[in-house]
This record gives sequence, C-alpha cells and structure tokens, in this order.
Amino acid sequence: MTQPVVRRSLFLHAPSSRRPRAVLSAMLERVDDGTPADGPGGPVAVLEARIAGLLGSEAALFFPSGTMAQQVVLRLHAERRNRWAFAAHPQCHLEVWEKHGYQVVHGLRFHPVGDRHALMGRADLDAVAEPLAAVVWELPQRDIGGLLPAWDDLCEQVAAVRAGGAAAHLDGARLWEAQTYYDRPHAEIAGLFDSVYVSLYKGLQGVRGAVLAADADTVAQAAVWRTRLGGSVPDAWPLALAALIGLDDLLPRMPAFRDHAVAIAAAINADGAARAWPDPPQTPLFHVHVPAGRHALERAQAALIADAGVQLFGYARSAPDPGRCSFEVSVGENALEFTPAEVVDLIHQLLDRVR
Ligand SMILES: Cc1ncc(COP(=O)(O)O)c(C=O)c1O
Repeated sequence: MTQPVVRRSLFLHAPSSRRPRAVLSAMLERVDDGTPADGPGGPVAVLEARIAGLLGSEAALFFPSGTMAQQVVLRLHAERRNRWAFAAHPQCHLEVWEKHGYQVVHGLRFHPVGDRHALMGRADLDAVAEPLAAVVWELPQRDIGGLLPAWDDLCEQVAAVRAGGAAAHLDGARLWEAQTYYDRPHAEIAGLFDSVYVSLYKGLQGVRGAVLAADADTVAQAAVWRTRLGGSVPDAWPLALAALIGLDDLLPRMPAFRDHAVAIAAAINADGAARAWPDPPQTPLFHVHVPAGRHALERAQAALIADAGVQLFGYARSAPDPGRCSFEVSVGENALEFTPAEVVDLIHQLLDRVR
C-alpha cells in the first residue's frame, strides 16, 4: 500500500517543508571554496561564537543533541556542589523524554516541582527540602501549552534558587520563541542563568544539534564529557550551517510567527468547537484541546491526509478524560500558509471524521 502524501502541513517538523535539496541549496549559498570543514573559521566555530554573542555568554559549545548537553551540564553543576539532585517541572523534557539518562548515565536524582499542569511557582520551589545541584526552567514549558512565567516571577525564582546554592539552568530549546513574549534581548533572558541550552532544529529548523552556553570553565569541562559520551563530531559542519541559516532567516521572523499563532488561536476560540490554550498564546507555540479521544483523532487525521493531503499535527496527547485529547501547533513557515479561518475549517473536518 502506498503512503498517503502530505501536501500541506501545519506541523513544524513536517517532512514536506524540509526537502533535502532545498536545505542543501541554501547551504551552498553560504560556503565558498575556502570554507574549512572544522577548526577556527569553520561553520561550527562560527555558530558557537554567534550564539555566545547572542546570549552574552563567555563560551558556547556545539553538541549533537540537547539531551546530551543538558545531562552533561547538570552533572557538572552536581559535581561542583557535591549535591546530586536537580529540580524541574514534572513534565520537563529530562524526565519525560530521555529514558532517565540523567540517572542511568550520570547518577543524578530528579525532584519534580509543582503541579504537572501548571508552571512552577516560587512557593513550589521554596517547598523543596533537599539540597539541589540545579533547577531547570524550560522556557516555554512545552507540554503544558508553551506557558511562560511573568518576567518578574522568573527573576525572583532564579534569585531565590541561586541564593540557596543551586545553579540555575535554562532549557532554552525554544528560547527563540520565548523571547517574543519577554520582548527583551536574548542575552538578558539567558543572563539570568548559569547555563543555557538552545536547540538548532526546532524553531531554527536546522538538521539536528544543540549549543550549550555558559562560562568558559563550564564549557571546557562540558567538552570533556562530550568526548566521553562520543558526542565530539568533527564534521558537524552541515548541522552548524543549517542552524546559521535559521538564525539569519527565521529568528527575525519569530514575532510574526507568534502573531500568526495568536490569530489562529483567537479564531479557534471564537469558533468554540476546540479550545486553544494558552489564550492568547505567549509564543508561536500553543495547544489545541479537542473533544475526541487520542486514537480517534489520530485516525481522523490519517483520513484527512488520505482525502485532502493536509496534516494538522505530529501526534496527539492523551488527557485524563478519555474523550478528549490535545495537539501542539508551533507556527513557523508552514503554518503561515494557513489562514486562521482555514485552520478552524480543518478542525471541523477532523472532528467530522471522528464521529
Ligand atoms: C524542551 C526540550 N528540551 C530538550 C530537548 C532535547 O533536544 P534533542 O532532541 O536535541 O536531544 C527537546 C527536544 O524535543 C525539548 O523539546
């Protein structure tokens, strides 16, 4: 049986919008015969320097994945303090998606903080009664719809945690998106933290990869662990080039992506068949909660792709109510091709196929 073809997709990581030939031609425009594969002046070094500059950090280091980068820096914070627990939101990436690598590989313990469906608050952090190596803020908190704490709350939380001797670490996989809400320079947001990880392939639409930004000492020690874990990739230049393209072309468009997300969410909420949350979205990312079970919605989406070639989401998240589920919308170039009214119509088409 042939796979139904996705012709248009609202989903950020849709393969239809990441065609190898288009990516390769954009890369070709950015290199010449003199571009070295690695070393100073190579795309990886250029990217590291660019991100260190953007985030105002002393140093920055490329990693093949955010998973590796964050586990490594949390280990360093733990070793320095001889404290082996870190705290974060119950639905943080480290806990939910990494098969407990922090524990199995690095011997760290995880202390979940606060309600799994709400942001961490100062009172939640104050209630942690064990000495912590670090606290991780995921900005925005993806699995609860891309929520962000108010700037003053964030500053207060970070200051309190640091006063207690723990490091403040930013999971900035979507710092590019979060910046549209805070409307402050990236360096001011990153400057709150002892260490910051950013992703190269989500909002920036690169191939893969991550960068860890911190003081020079931390970055030098992180490089040792990157080697130990097999993450030193000398020929990572294609990943760096793709990320540099994202920094040039997509980063300046984040506010427009956020505005379109706000417009789509407003249309969904005005219609009422589904509910967009947060209302309004704080970043280009938000969730759509629908009155249908997860598997039923996924079957409906498969039917919509087969009939119309249109994909609305990557996967659906289940909810405590088995008759409801949600999916993520992360507005990038693909989603700009859909008007808010069209998205509402597509949600109706999806729900019609559930019944
Ligand atoms: C919030 C967050 N943190 C960390 C990661 C890990 O990044 P990577 O896929 O590069 O390991 C992801 C990836 O989806 C993420 O969404």
